Amino acid sequence: MSSVVVSGSLNMDVIVQTARRPQAGETILDGKVSFLPGGKGSNQAVAAARLGARVSMLGAVGEDVFGETLRGVLKAERVDASGVKAMRGETTGVAVIQVAQGDNAITGAAGANALFSPKMVVRTPRRGEIWVAQFETPVATTAMLFAKARAAGARTILNLAPMVPFPARLMKLVDIAILNEIELAQATGAKITAKSSVAAIAAACRKLGAPVTIATLGGRGLVIVTPDGVTALPAHKAKVVDTTGAGDCFVGALASRLAANIPLLEAARYANAAASCAVERLGATPSMPSPRQVAARLRNA
Ligand code: ATP
Ligand code: RIB
Repeated sequence: MSSVVVSGSLNMDVIVQTARRPQAGETILDGKVSFLPGGKGSNQAVAAARLGARVSMLGAVGEDVFGETLRGVLKAERVDASGVKAMRGETTGVAVIQVAQGDNAITGAAGANALFSPKMVVRTPRRGEIWVAQFETPVATTAMLFAKARAAGARTILNLAPMVPFPARLMKLVDIAILNEIELAQATGAKITAKSSVAAIAAACRKLGAPVTIATLGGRGLVIVTPDGVTALPAHKAKVVDTTGAGDCFVGALASRLAANIPLLEAARYANAAASCAVERLGATPSMPSPRQVAARLRNA
């Protein structure tokens, strides 16, 4: 089994659940608030660790209570957090998440995540490792890390979320690109919606230029595009509580299987089942499933 290294964000998620989302200018007073660990990077690291991978996390937090808490969460999950730097005078990333009617809307304040620079990276890629990044930390740092990963013979997974401008040459350093349908439309300019055909989604995926692209489609499942063809996997049946972190669960679970040398399509089937478990609990990091939960989901499919 090789290691998974996640370079990315750590956030304290301030989750407010309401019966419906307020309109602009409207106040709703029946909210229930929860402070839960999140950030796409940290969520993906925890997902991979819970599913049995040896995981290291690289990133930045502020020298504050949220930062200390988030590093503690990683340690408790057996993720090596020695590559997460606490930055004096900066704030830890925060995401305000409105959950209503089974869906979410997120407003992020990046804080220290936006300052995670190449100089702060304490780890060098090794052959066979799986390196994972998203777009909540600077693209320049990810590009530098992926260039080193490629040179060392490590594999790279880029979750293009949330969408930010990125140089076309970045995709040449990516082995597997993962994004949802909104991000796919943003990245390629293709007119993709939740209802687009598999053929249209696959065509947009090919435009991205990575050898393998996986489009996640929420309750519709996912589409995997490889040089060998297109595979569409339906989502598993799930009792949706909160979909926040489902995409992160998919990414982390996929990385954990690839690190165990499982072939791509089998790894994606496993990650699809894992992600369906993640929608059944509130929050992002806390909703990452155990191997037993994923096995049960696959057995009952
Ligand atoms: P987020 O940003 O909230 O983490 P995302 O938009 O990146 O999520 P989605 O495409 O919504 O990611 O979901 C990722 C995967 O999670 C899906 O491909 C699917 O495997 C699983 N999933 C999501 N929603 C559901 C659902 N309602 N039922 C079953 N599985 C789901
Ligand atoms: O993907 C879910 C994550 O996005 C949340 O945990 C939140 O922190 C935002 O970064």
